[in-house]
Amino acid sequence: MRSAKDFFRPLAVGAPAPVREVPFRPSRMIHFFDPSNEKMAAKVPTIAPKVDVLLGNLEDAVSADRKEAARAGLVATAKAQDFGDTQLWTRINSLDSPWALDDLLTLVTEIGHKLDVVMVPKVEGAEDIHYVDRLLAQLEAKAGIGRPILVHAILETATGVANVEEIAGASPRMQGISLGPADLAASRRMKTTRVGGGHPGYLVREDPKDPGMELPRLTFQQDLWHYTIARMVDACAAHGILPYYGPFGDIKDTTACEDQFRNAFLLGCVGAWSLHPVQIDIAKRVFSPAPADVAWARRVIDAMGDGTGAVMIDGKMQDDATVKQCHVVVELAEALAA
Ligand code: GLV
Ligand code: MG
Repeated sequence: MRSAKDFFRPLAVGAPAPVREVPFRPSRMIHFFDPSNEKMAAKVPTIAPKVDVLLGNLEDAVSADRKEAARAGLVATAKAQDFGDTQLWTRINSLDSPWALDDLLTLVTEIGHKLDVVMVPKVEGAEDIHYVDRLLAQLEAKAGIGRPILVHAILETATGVANVEEIAGASPRMQGISLGPADLAASRRMKTTRVGGGHPGYLVREDPKDPGMELPRLTFQQDLWHYTIARMVDACAAHGILPYYGPFGDIKDTTACEDQFRNAFLLGCVGAWSLHPVQIDIAKRVFSPAPADVAWARRVIDAMGDGTGAVMIDGKMQDDATVKQCHVVVELAEALAA
């Protein structure tokens, strides 16, 4: 079995970051819309140019009696629209549902030449990706589609998390993995009732300052998703594919949304889902390196000459390893600016 790595160039000695063979395409926000909702579908021409990825959602949040309408709505929207540089993705129904096969059959046959990525929910192991991979290959051949439609897995079951490495490397079609915190919370039997983000009860409290006195003690809310994001990022980096934070359901709490997106960005994610137009600009801001960080990274790279040894800049030690981190920041900024 070929691994996803076969699609990517091997690393040259000393190269700072994996270099993808496939052309870089920004995917800071994967913007969800419900194609069965006529009002939302009508907004596609104005939303599409503002986002890196537009995703027609067929799975959860589309009720069972609207599944066919959503599929037909996505076909109609895709046929009517030229997406330019914006990628078109879909989230199909889960492989254990009655709809997934028809989703793939219809979409690849009707609009496969416009579809960049198929997002597969509730992936539990490599066998799920193999199934989609084989179907896509057959349908592409039948429809005469000359380039591979890529596959993106949602990590949203405890079994999926246990198998994340084999999922990441299951096919050369693998484009990336998103965290699905809502389904994952249910699968793990966590005691939350939210779509992503934190919880006021999940916190650390500082020790009492004076055991005899009732002084207020500071509390700090913790990131419920740190472990899974870090595990997903490692699996993706090891297989040369891209990691994403998923949805943030509290649309009104733009501050907490930005915090959650930023934690994911700093840990290595390249994007997140946007469920509402207000989250588009948040994702764009968070997942684009800040100009001050890029300027600092360039300063370190310049000061490090051939990239080996050590220098002091503003009292901070820089060496071969920090210059590699700086290349990651600069390469991302340059790729986004291109
Ligand atoms: C997304 O699908 C989630 O379950 O969080
Ligand atoms: Mg889900």
